[in-house]
Amino acid sequence: MRAVRFHEHGGPEVLTVDEVDEPEPEHGQVVVDVEAAGVNPVDTYFREGAYPVPHLPFIGGGDLAGTVAEVGPGVDQFAVGDRVFGTGLGNGMPGSYAEAAAAPADYLAHLPEEIDFEAAAALGTVSATAWQALVHHAQAEPTENVLVHGGSGGVGHVAIQLAETMGTHVHATASPEHFETLSDLGAERVFDYSRDDLEDAVVGAGGADVVVDLHMDQYLQFNADVANPGARVVGIGNDTAEGGFDNIGVTKGKEIQYQFMSLFNADDIGAVLARVADLAASGELEAVVHETYDFEEAGEAQRAVLEDSFVGKLVLVP
Ligand SMILES: NC(=O)c1ccc[n+]([C@@H]2O[C@H](COP(=O)([O-])OP(=O)(O)OC[C@H]3O[C@@H](n4cnc5c(N)ncnc54)[C@H](OP(=O)(O)O)[C@@H]3O)[C@@H](O)[C@H]2O)c1
Repeated sequence: MRAVRFHEHGGPEVLTVDEVDEPEPEHGQVVVDVEAAGVNPVDTYFREGAYPVPHLPFIGGGDLAGTVAEVGPGVDQFAVGDRVFGTGLGNGMPGSYAEAAAAPADYLAHLPEEIDFEAAAALGTVSATAWQALVHHAQAEPTENVLVHGGSGGVGHVAIQLAETMGTHVHATASPEHFETLSDLGAERVFDYSRDDLEDAVVGAGGADVVVDLHMDQYLQFNADVANPGARVVGIGNDTAEGGFDNIGVTKGKEIQYQFMSLFNADDIGAVLARVADLAASGELEAVVHETYDFEEAGEAQRAVLEDSFVGKLVLVP
């Protein structure tokens, strides 16, 4: 079968399409015939070597959607032919950028007929991350103000929709060209993240009871300054390794709760994705697929996910 691998760490140019052996399912795994694989920033961290891989060459990619081709021992929730989607591959095990991938069954959920494979492959990481942030960590409640930094991104545009479904008032930061799309997805207010008076604008809109922060190296102090008493700030993404507060005193008076999270620590991904599938099937949540690429274009997709400005997700198709 064909798979996208890197034989050494480096830039997008190290990705090659190789002929490799078909995977065999281990205990607790199924083999999925991959119809589409989602592209995420984290895929580039493994490629670059910032995150470890068990061996080289290595198949990258975390998200997938497809059809169950083989069921390993100890798996009773999936059968050959089932439509599935999932996330969590590529971290200690071969990834999803392949015509077939072995996946732990508890990283997968059944895929309703209403959702096509490309949209489902786009959902994995971002929907599970948004769910962990808003439901599990922040426990956002109806009528609260939820602020999503990076609202046009993969996680951000799904977090906006999930927060709206939870009955919150959704505010987001983004580039101006995406305001209309994010409003259509459920954001009540969208703020240009480059404006000088961003803090005043967010406070003027009622401040934040919950912050979903995908650029926390830039916003830790900002979050504290716009937070309402009792706010919960969930730190998810950062662009550089450095960040911090200029004035930590404000955090105490407001009793702000900080939670920094990694989806790799989640132990219920399949269960979360099953709930996401229900929301997606009923039209309450979707991953916007901005562009699809074939395997030969995987390097270009990984460049674009970091550098280009668009709403939603990029997807690879074998
Ligand atoms: N901890 C975890 O488990 C976890 C899980 C998923 C993702 N992440 C991390 O979270 C981050 C976002 O992931 P993603 O998949 O959503 O990435 P993405 O699709 O690349 O989206 C990033 C978005 O942030 C926007 N942005 C850039 N600078 C900004 C700023 N200063 N303020 C507000 N928005 C800004 C970008 O908009 P423009 O392009 O218009 O500038 C882009 O839409 C990444 O660092 C990723 O590695 C972590």
